[in-house]
Amino acid sequence: LDLIRGAPNADGGALAPIQDYLNEIHARVSKIEGGAPADYIPELGKVDPTLFGIAIATVDGQLYTVGDARVPFTIQSVSKPFMYGYALQHHGRPRVLQKVGVEPTGEAFNSIVLDEAANRPFNPMVNAGAIAVAEMMQGDTLKQRTNNMLELFSSLAARKIDIDEAVYKSELATGHRNRAIAYMMLNTAMIEHDPEEVLELYFRQCALSVTACDLAVMAATLANDGTNPVTDHKIFDTQYVRDVLTVMNSCGMYDYAGEWAYEVGMPAKSGVSGCIIAAIPGQIGICVYAPPIDSQGNSVRGIAVCQDMSREFQLHSF
Ligand code: DON
Repeated sequence: LDLIRGAPNADGGALAPIQDYLNEIHARVSKIEGGAPADYIPELGKVDPTLFGIAIATVDGQLYTVGDARVPFTIQSVSKPFMYGYALQHHGRPRVLQKVGVEPTGEAFNSIVLDEAANRPFNPMVNAGAIAVAEMMQGDTLKQRTNNMLELFSSLAARKIDIDEAVYKSELATGHRNRAIAYMMLNTAMIEHDPEEVLELYFRQCALSVTACDLAVMAATLANDGTNPVTDHKIFDTQYVRDVLTVMNSCGMYDYAGEWAYEVGMPAKSGVSGCIIAAIPGQIGICVYAPPIDSQGNSVRGIAVCQDMSREFQLHSF
């Protein structure tokens, strides 16, 4: 873990140990303004826009934090790669690929578009794909499926995870665009059950209450080949971790995914609550939380931190 021990930087000088670096980048990026908290889910608009936390979890289970790393927020779209991993783990690739592709859209996260050739949603990171994936949660009743979903995320975070009821109800009451997407997929048989029930699970999944520390541990589980570094619990097989990281790499940042892959070069996922995770296989999981987001739905300060880390520690994949 060169990053933690203090590797030489590009100019041959020694880099500061990770905690010093985190303190420094937090102070520097705190000065960056711009963006605004999402408010299309009314409850999200009530957040304190100055919150800003960073957490890094290593694959050997150490945690480094700065700022508001233990303040709870809702996970939103950062839930999507983990639900995709679950679907692959429990249904296998062929079944999952029938319901959702792996092609980037180059469009917004909430675009109402299916791949016309296959009638499928393009990928599991956009809302359409994630709603199709949510239907694959196992359990005979909505209650059982909700409990299985909570169990999945609790095992990923290494602590008991709950739902933020206020945010859940806020999206349930206003998420008509997602409703349109779900009914469109009922029409093409990508969804086979009552769309309202599928959406209830999807909205609950997005309203899971987590902290930057939790998401860093979850990202580190992906970096650690599917084994949670805190509990040593194996959650995803190697082959499915590869699938999850691949779609994060190509689709995790929506219509910014190409530029992100070019410049930052780490598999990542953002959520409209203002969180971004990134995973560096064999090394670390990163989470940045700062609510103001840009027009593509990505945290402004989150992007700035990841850009800097990628440059400073040479974390670009290629
Ligand atoms: O479905 C939605 O619109 C939200 N629950 C999640 C969207 C999201 O986080 C997109 N990410 N940047």
